[in-house]
Amino acid sequence: MMDIEFVRSRFIKHFDGKTGNVYTSPGRINLIGEHTDYNGGFVFPGAVDKGIMAEMRANGTEDTVMAYAIDLKDRVDFKLSDPNGPRASWARYIYGISLEMKKLGVPVKGYNIAFAGDVPLGAGMSSSAAMESCFAFGLNDIFGDNKVSQWDMALAGQATEHNYCGVNCGIMDQFASVFGKAGCLMRLDCRSREFEYFPFKPDGYRLVLLDSVVKHQLAGSPYNDRRNSCENVVRHIQAKHPEGKYETLRDCTWEQLEEVKEEVGAEDYKRAKFVLGEKDRVLGVCEALTEGDYEKVGELMYKTHEGLSKDYEVSCEELDFLNDVAKENGVTGSRIMGGGFGGCTINLVRNDLYRKFIEDAKKKFNEKYGHEPKVYDVVISDGSRKLC
Ligand code: GLA
Repeated sequence: MMDIEFVRSRFIKHFDGKTGNVYTSPGRINLIGEHTDYNGGFVFPGAVDKGIMAEMRANGTEDTVMAYAIDLKDRVDFKLSDPNGPRASWARYIYGISLEMKKLGVPVKGYNIAFAGDVPLGAGMSSSAAMESCFAFGLNDIFGDNKVSQWDMALAGQATEHNYCGVNCGIMDQFASVFGKAGCLMRLDCRSREFEYFPFKPDGYRLVLLDSVVKHQLAGSPYNDRRNSCENVVRHIQAKHPEGKYETLRDCTWEQLEEVKEEVGAEDYKRAKFVLGEKDRVLGVCEALTEGDYEKVGELMYKTHEGLSKDYEVSCEELDFLNDVAKENGVTGSRIMGGGFGGCTINLVRNDLYRKFIEDAKKKFNEKYGHEPKVYDVVISDGSRKLC
């Protein structure tokens, strides 16, 4: 965990010696329900014990933001009124969320901010959503009398990705970062935005992430292409069924997908096939969790991996390798987690197999790729909050 005193010492050193308020927001895991959020489906995330911590303070100027990224040792100052905003990608999150919070009626003025993080970058654990949520929470507290709701802060984070960072993401990451609760996963219906906390204490099992340390870049990328494919299939189904209202793949059936198979082409068909399957799998996992049937949960996780790898094509060699090692070790469930194109696998593993699995995965991965995967034990933790 990061340390308040560490962040504070940098805030004092790099600005005017005064202290501000300190906020934190976590990264997330997702048990199942991948690439379903922007398709109006279900997701099953939880916040983790790794996140972003920021100290923030109004600096008395009308619109000058002075920002320091502690881990990168990089300082950027910019004006909120500058239509282009800063170039540094980390600073664009600060710029973007400030403007999105202004749109929500928060009278954001100039402020100083220093932040650090321990969510591994590019691991598919949403370091960017952790930043957006943390900064949104701070701005709401400092300038907005905490009038903006949790949902609106999550949506402001998502809008930051869309409008300033070039990633057309869904709502899962920001939702999980804002609403997380220790010990609980959350089942979110991304269409209605209704959600439920699910206490997650799998007796005899644990969740562990294996980070391939292969980095992905989502901006201007295959992530947006996947989303476009899904939307294309929906447009075709809508055109065939003008009597109905088809907004996302959530509204579409397997039969309707088959009807448009030829016209949408093989690639878009495969993408939509994965999404419809994933919709069913999340519901299957909910049922299995209610019954305490973790073997069933694991089986569905493997199916998700297969779909993400073969149909959605967001896996990579290293992640498929880690998935195979999990299978060989009798791990209950394993799959690529998050947007894809690198990052982690999430593994549901029986306690008695844990040690052997981790050792084997490290050894085999190292033999093949020349470095060990990183291992993160999942601790499901609280969402955005003020620390002092
Ligand atoms: C990224 C996006 C999310 C979601 C996942 C895939 O993390 O930010 O909105 O689409 O990928 O499930």
